[in-house]
Parts: sequence; C-alpha cells; structure tokens
Amino acid sequence: MRARAITSVTAVAGLAVIGYASVIERNWFALREQQVPVLPPGAGPLRVLHVSDIHLTPGRHRLMSFVRSLASLAPDLVVNTGDSIASAEAVGPLLDSLGPLLDVPGVFVYGSNDLYSPKLKNPARYLWRTSAGEHYRREPDLPWEKLGGELTAAGWLDLNNRRGQLSVNGLDIALAGVHDPHAGRDRYDLVAGPAAPDAALRIGVLHSPEPPVLDQFAADGYDLLFSGHTHGGQLCVPGFGALVTNCGIDRDRVSGLSMHPRVSPAAGKTAWLHVSAGLGTSPRAPARFACRPEATLLTLTPRSG
Ligand SMILES: [Fe+2]
Repeated sequence: MRARAITSVTAVAGLAVIGYASVIERNWFALREQQVPVLPPGAGPLRVLHVSDIHLTPGRHRLMSFVRSLASLAPDLVVNTGDSIASAEAVGPLLDSLGPLLDVPGVFVYGSNDLYSPKLKNPARYLWRTSAGEHYRREPDLPWEKLGGELTAAGWLDLNNRRGQLSVNGLDIALAGVHDPHAGRDRYDLVAGPAAPDAALRIGVLHSPEPPVLDQFAADGYDLLFSGHTHGGQLCVPGFGALVTNCGIDRDRVSGLSMHPRVSPAAGKTAWLHVSAGLGTSPRAPARFACRPEATLLTLTPRSG
C-alpha cells in the first residue's frame, strides 16, 4: 500500500514537472539586458537586439506575440543567429512577428534547423552526444532560401559565409559570419582575414558557438561575437545549470556574456562572446526547465581606458 502511494505521488510530481516545462516555462519569455564596453572612447551607446532559435511554427501565438513586442525596444541593430523556423509554413508568420524590426538594420545567419524539418528523436540523447552530424545526411526540406530572400529584401544582411558593413547611428560596423558549423556548412576561409581596422566595431556572427571557429574570429580582430544554438541547456538543473551545451562550448558559457578565448593567449586577441539561450524549442522537444526562453538587449558602450 505504501509503495503504491509513493509511486502515485512520484507519477503526479513527474506529470506536474512535464506540464510546467512544456506549457508554462516554454511560454514564459524573458528579456535579458546586458552592457558591453566594446565601442571606441566617446562612441555610442548602441542598442543591439539579439534573437535566436525562434524555431517558429504557425501555432505558437504567444511566441509570435513576444517577438512582435520587441520592436518597442527601438533597437539600433538586430542580430538573428538562426534556427528561426521549424515548419515550411513559418516564414510568413516569422516576418509578421518581426514586423517593424525589419525596418531596423539587421543581420542574420542560418542554423541547421532553418534547413531541415524536425524529426522525432529521443530528447535524452543530448546527454551522451551532440546532434552534430545528424543534419547533412539528407537534402534540406525547409524553405531556407525563401527565408533568406525575404530577410534580405527587407534590408537585413545575409552573413552566411559572407562579410558585410553597416553604418548605424554614424558608427561604421564591419561584420562577418558563417553558415552553421554544427551542420558542417561553415566556410571561414571565405571571410578569413583581418577585420577592418578602421571600423568603429567589428562583429562576428555564427549559429553554433564552436570554439575553433570562435578562435578564428577572435584572431582576425572581431570585437564582439554572437551565437545561439545551445538553448541555454534547455532542460537545466536548478542550482547546477545546464547539463549539456550540444556543441563544443563549455557548460558555464552555455548562455550569456563571456570572453573568447576565455584566457587570452600571450599576445593574442580576445573578443566578447554573447550566446543567446534562444526563444524556442524544437517542436519535437517542446519543453524548457530552469532555462526561460529569452531575447537579449545589449547596450554597447565605450571601452574604459
Ligand atoms: Fe535551436
């Protein structure tokens, strides 16, 4: 009798956690704010909105409503680090959600999930291996070209294995990005070389924060790097944090601001790295725990000294 009661309590508690993670926290969107002292003395401030891993499907009305609300922040620049869609029907709803943000200078790269529709997988597999290598076994089946074409037509810069430049609030910004390293589509050789030394700010963008690629951006003189992909660990342990990052970055840099490389090599260069925990989840793993979905407003300020 006692064993049966314990089993019942455990089952109810388990169902409550699953319900919380999939219904409540998955829709409990947060705006994180962060200052980054990365501009030349006397410049700025510059407000950069970082969105990532929206994984949009047309039925996610709360998510679309939150994305729509971000325009009220009036950012100077928007950085989208990919995994924007999770359905062939999501491009239109994504554009509708971004709305006035598309009139703001913006840049984007793809994540692997912009190319490949979600498949049913064991969500616990991330505990013993990453999903690298799962994506380029088949042809893309999502409308990534339409997605990129619409964002480009709106004026956003496509940084998939490309360089670019923008002038925002009178600041010259040099940019470079790569397609998703997690899917083996990154071609750093196409953007390699010293970042423009006369620019006020040099930004690097990539979906998955793979350290070898981050190393190259930092060595080429990029000041500030943007990534997503990790979902902040997605299913975290309160008081411990992320169990896994699903890529090469270490657990304690699974989201937020850090330096890369963490310890500056002698005479080497370092960059600020911002990893977004992202706004969505794969529809096949629709839960977040102790890891709220987020967008980030980074206020760039002058360096000290
Ligand atoms: Fe993602």
